[in-house]
This record gives sequence, structure tokens and C-alpha cells, in this order.
Amino acid sequence: MPPRILIAQDETDHGRITCDAFLDFIHQSSMRCSVVLPTGNTPLPFYAELRAHQGKIDFSFLQLDEYMGCAPHSETLFSKWIAREVLDPLHITDRFTFNSAADPSEEVARIRAHMSSFPTIDLVVLGIGQNGHIGLLEPGTDFNCAASLVEMAESTWDANCAYWGQDIPRSAVTLGFQELRKARQTFMLALGVSKAEALYRAFYGDVTPECPASYLQTMNNVTIIADRGALSLFPI
Ligand code: GLP
Repeated sequence: MPPRILIAQDETDHGRITCDAFLDFIHQSSMRCSVVLPTGNTPLPFYAELRAHQGKIDFSFLQLDEYMGCAPHSETLFSKWIAREVLDPLHITDRFTFNSAADPSEEVARIRAHMSSFPTIDLVVLGIGQNGHIGLLEPGTDFNCAASLVEMAESTWDANCAYWGQDIPRSAVTLGFQELRKARQTFMLALGVSKAEALYRAFYGDVTPECPASYLQTMNNVTIIADRGALSLFPI
């Protein structure tokens, strides 16, 4: 099934379109949906729109990725970022978050065990790195991997340091393809021409671990929500 493509005029429009698609999906279900949400700059306009719906939505949040080795209250944690942007303002209380300060192999085992209790995940929302990474699944990662401890690629680490204006850990835990493949619906969010090549490789290139996002070609129910810059290499 080819992906659905929603084209945004600008960042604000991207936030609005993503928020509408998210709410449509959540409201279709009579049960509370399980949802994976990403960090990064791309989803920020979406989260800003979503905050206006405080008190009107509820879902179960599942974390996508996290730096390892940060102090529990560090403001650079992805779990804090998501909490600030979305979960706290919306009063979402059902959260499965990763513990950056835990022993990494024990934390990976805990995440795998928790995620294996989900036969499906209702909605996985992803961004994309310029090297085609999703979550923190970097190029070269086996398509069969489950949640894992990973080392960030140099370019990913640089981009992540830029969020904070300081060094952050090089290792992280991330959901793996085994978990992401449980999605009933996947949203791929991309903004800007700097993502055009990665987005093109993800959907028109070979399905290869060299472009982790290319696993989306093997998935049903994928929606790409992007602006014209990010879609500039698409034949549309
Ligand atoms: C980070 C995050 C990803 C995110 C990606 C793109 O490394 N771990 O989940 O999708 O980079 O981020 P941005 O949206 O800021 O370009």
C-alpha cells in the first residue's frame, strides 16, 4: 500500500495538518490509543497545536529513544522534552519512559519486556535524520533488531548537541524495528529541504539498513506529512 502524502505549506500548516491527522486517528478508536511520539524540532509545531486540545484527548505514551547516562532530572532528557511539550500540558499520565540513569543492559531488557506485551502499537509518529535514521536507529542497523543500546552516528550526535548547546552522551537506547513494526499506523514527519534526500531514499530508494527509514516501504498505513522542501525530490 503506497503511503498517503499530506503536503504542508509551511511549519505552522505542518503542525495543523499533523494535529488534525493525529486527532482523527485518536478519535476513531473507542479505546485509549498507544502512541509513540518523537523529539526533535520537526514535531514542535504539531505539539504546539496539540496543546490547544488540553483536557479533550488522552492516550498511552510510549517513549521512542533516550540518551543514556544522564542524571534523572537533566533537562536534556528526551523524556523531559516530551513531558514539557506535550504530556504535562495535556495531562497525559499513562507514560512508559526510559531511565537514562539505569544500567543500560537492564534498561534494554526492561524496555523489550514491556514492549513485548503490546501485540500492536496504535500509532507511531517518527521524524527522520539527514542520514535516514529514525528514533536513534542509525544506518547499518539490522532490520530485525528489537529495542537496543546504540551509539549515535557522529552527525546525529552533532545535531543532538545543537539542541542543547552542550555535549550530550554518545550512547542511547531506542526502540528497534521489532517494536516499530507493530504500528497500526505510522506518521513520518519531515520539514525542510535538508530532509529531502533522506525522505527520498526512505520511500524511493532500496529497502536497506543503510537507510533505516526505508523499512517504511514494507509497512502498511504510512502517512508522510511534509512541506514542499522535504518533498522536493518526490516525483509529485
Ligand atoms: C533526533 C531524534 C529523532 C528525530 C531526528 C530528527 O536524533 N532522536 O527522533 O526524528 O533526530 O530531528 P529534527 O526533527 O530536529 O530534525
